[in-house]
Amino acid sequence: MYPSLFLFLLVLIIGAKGTQLRSDYYFETCPEAEFIVRDVMKMAFNREPRSVASVMRFQFHDCFVNGCDASLLLDDTPEMLGEKLALSNINSLRSYEVVDEIKDALERACPGVVSCADIVIMASRDAVFLSGGPYWDVKLGRLDSLIASQENSSNIMPSPRSDASSLIDLFSKYSLSVKDLVALSGSHSIGKGRCFSIVFRLYNQSGSGMPDPTIEPEYRVKLNKLCPVCGDGNVTGDLDSTPVVFDNQFFKDLVNGRGFLNSDQTLHTFPDTREYVELYSVDQDAFFNDFVEGMIKMGDLQSDQPGEIRRNCRVVNRQPLNLVADS
Ligand code: HEM
Ligand SMILES: *[C@@H]1O[C@H](CO)[C@@H](O)[C@H](O)[C@H]1NC(C)=O
Ligand SMILES: *[C@@H]1O[C@H](CO)[C@@H](O)[C@H](O)[C@H]1NC(C)=O
Ligand SMILES: *[C@@H]1O[C@H](CO)[C@@H](O)[C@H](O)[C@H]1NC(C)=O
Repeated sequence: MYPSLFLFLLVLIIGAKGTQLRSDYYFETCPEAEFIVRDVMKMAFNREPRSVASVMRFQFHDCFVNGCDASLLLDDTPEMLGEKLALSNINSLRSYEVVDEIKDALERACPGVVSCADIVIMASRDAVFLSGGPYWDVKLGRLDSLIASQENSSNIMPSPRSDASSLIDLFSKYSLSVKDLVALSGSHSIGKGRCFSIVFRLYNQSGSGMPDPTIEPEYRVKLNKLCPVCGDGNVTGDLDSTPVVFDNQFFKDLVNGRGFLNSDQTLHTFPDTREYVELYSVDQDAFFNDFVEGMIKMGDLQSDQPGEIRRNCRVVNRQPLNLVADS
């Protein structure tokens, strides 16, 4: 009846949700951006295959906290506690230097053009592809946040003790389905986790004084050796049995009770998620398709706060006031 009014309201809503992301965003301003990111990621992979998994994890920890805005990458300042030392990130997130390397290369080619938030999205896609997983087109055009909050990250990011039903609730807050949750958990097809993240399930699951009964006995012996009671919590183990290859082995391992993290193994124990675990364990194409869909949806989570293109991913650009004061 009032089509123009309807259109006006629609535009307002999209505007408030952030800018429209698109795959050719840097086509004119930095056409080589995606090649530069891929080259640095390839070098990182050759140096240390795990580092690309570590970088891929940034997408999850960035996008779930106030949208994909590189808030995760800000170092703490005397005025602001950032996300790097939040509960799920401290002594755990790593390979920030790979993002720095990508940013340096991009700043040399096209200064001030490509956001750190977009770097995380491109690098995550490349991490999966370099590890033998699927390739997909990423949407670009995000801005970098001016602030970060350690408290927000600590409140949001899930613990390795989580069970499937709490993860379903968490993901649903971001309009991510049960299928998205299971497919995205397949990111644990690459990378490692610390003993710190699993000792509770080896020795005192849910305060029972007993191990998690869903761990396959031989695998449990192996994990007990890797992570003895009162051992070094920083020792790491593989998240699945092929930790540098992005494949569906992770889901086969879950079916066999050989999931490293409690949060992963409960995806097989819990009926609503189990059907997807079983499907992906026998159908790698279904996993790859649903994973890509999930990564794109997660990448669409936007911040509603003002942003900028940071020159250094670790710090916000200097305010004009400071520039005046310095010169
Ligand atoms: C579903 C909820 C999730 C939980 C509870 C979870 C939890 C964890 C934990 C506890 C670790 C090991 C950390 C450590 O011990 O230091 C880990 C590693 C990892 N996570 Fe997740 N995660 C989840 C979802 C995701 C998603 C959605 C992604 C990416 C799309 C992701 C990517 C990774 C990667 C690649 C690693 C290995 C990192 C490395 O080797 O440095 N995770 N995750
Ligand atoms: C932290 O979360 C609160 C509540 O969601 C939000 O209002 C605030 O803007 C967030 N802070 C940052 C720095 O993102
Ligand atoms: C196991 O966990 C419970 C509850 O968190 C705790 O009270 C108990 O002391 C723990 N036992 C051991 C051996 O750590
Ligand atoms: C791991 O290493 C860090 C840095 O050396 C240390 O501060 C931390 O306490 C260690 N964490 C565990 C669980 O042992």
